[in-house]
Amino acid sequence: MTGAWNKSDWRKKPRVQMPDYTDDAALKAVEAKLAKYPPLVFAGEARKLKRALGDVSRGNAFLLQGGDCAESFSQFDADSIRDTFKVMLQMAMVLTYAAKTPVVKVGRLAGQFAKPRSAPTEMVNGQELPSYRGDIINDIAPTPEARSPDPQRMLQAYTQAAASLNLVRAFSQGGYADVHQVHAWTLGFTEQDEAEKYRDLANRISDTLDFMAAAGVNQDTAHTLQSVDFYTSHEALLLEYEEALARIDSTTGLPVVGSGHMIWIGDRTRQPDGAHVEFCRGVQNPLGLKCGPSMSTDDLKSLMAKLNPENEAGRLTLIARFGAGTVADKLPHLVQAVREEGANVVWSCDPMHGNTIKSANGYKTRPFDSVLREVQEFFAIHKSEGTIPGGVHFEMTGADVTECTGGVRAVTEENLSDRYHTACDPRLNASQALELAFLVAEELSNQPGRRSEASAM
Ligand code: PEP
Ligand code: CO
Repeated sequence: MTGAWNKSDWRKKPRVQMPDYTDDAALKAVEAKLAKYPPLVFAGEARKLKRALGDVSRGNAFLLQGGDCAESFSQFDADSIRDTFKVMLQMAMVLTYAAKTPVVKVGRLAGQFAKPRSAPTEMVNGQELPSYRGDIINDIAPTPEARSPDPQRMLQAYTQAAASLNLVRAFSQGGYADVHQVHAWTLGFTEQDEAEKYRDLANRISDTLDFMAAAGVNQDTAHTLQSVDFYTSHEALLLEYEEALARIDSTTGLPVVGSGHMIWIGDRTRQPDGAHVEFCRGVQNPLGLKCGPSMSTDDLKSLMAKLNPENEAGRLTLIARFGAGTVADKLPHLVQAVREEGANVVWSCDPMHGNTIKSANGYKTRPFDSVLREVQEFFAIHKSEGTIPGGVHFEMTGADVTECTGGVRAVTEENLSDRYHTACDPRLNASQALELAFLVAEELSNQPGRRSEASAM
């Protein structure tokens, strides 16, 4: 870290995209409460993820990050967490088996509650209202009272995050994620091409496991096969919440945020001298940094110097989100700048946030074709630059929603209204997410210089 750091120093820096709480006493009371609550994750776990991301930065593993655009209080239930977890396991299995690459699994969950918005207000039914900023800040209902920021919501977000993480830990370690269940994860899929493809792959995995068992090879690896490491992440947008959950790690004596394993800085809050960069630079968790079309090479260089001054592998994941057709214009000079600096980073591709459009019937949507094209362009650029495409970042859900158009089971614009449930941006449904995993696996298998031996799931 360059220069002294204190967890509250961000308060002296210019801040954007954060609410102005009107009741200061209520805010302080919530912050004091949260500061006493147990952290949700431990520093040792954050360090383990950082080491895994270090492997990703060297091309020895692949990062799969995914989940809701925004978690919501009203759509909180065990089934949706299980289903998203299940699809991520399936996707990881496809990538591990087809591309022979260990997969680092990171959910956008158990803390993904705060949203940056393109405008501070919006018009609803002729009335101008403060924009909805995520359930941790205000309520989506279109009334002035609901849209007023309420600090108490931070306590509910903490409770929901704790319960979500508890369930995810149980799924990860309690037998559900056992690779011998590879077939059970398909249940719930109707007949469709990619489910068929997945069943095929699951059969091959089962055969391999039977062979290993018969040959007595699985004795030492039993534990690796029966559980997974699954990490949590969210955008560190609401800094009062993040600061209140920051702790000193007793092992290293360094600050760490206890709100999630990995946090990221959004494309709208990455000002090098702004509050968000100031806060994030001081905690030892792995950090993500969204890189959109307005990111200059100078910005990137100064952000890398601030966020990863010791050039630690696994510390910084650059999440490119340019939009299909724009990547070729914008990404190569950033990739070259990183190479010139000799910086250790993970390059990940978010093909969601640069491809949002409004459908003719008024829905915010993303065409599956654009999402896929951006992923392909990302891989092609890394291939020609000789650098490593380290991962993907998706907004997705295990539920059968109709929010993005296209895919094998072609969701049309007319279908969007059938099951459009997102609290914010449109997500890939389970079938679209799995389809993408197969396509990413294909791209990965064609990437030169990747070590092709699977050492872990
Ligand atoms: C997001 O990931 O939900 C998001 C708002 O992304 P970005 O900062 O890249 O726009
Ligand atoms: Co989003």
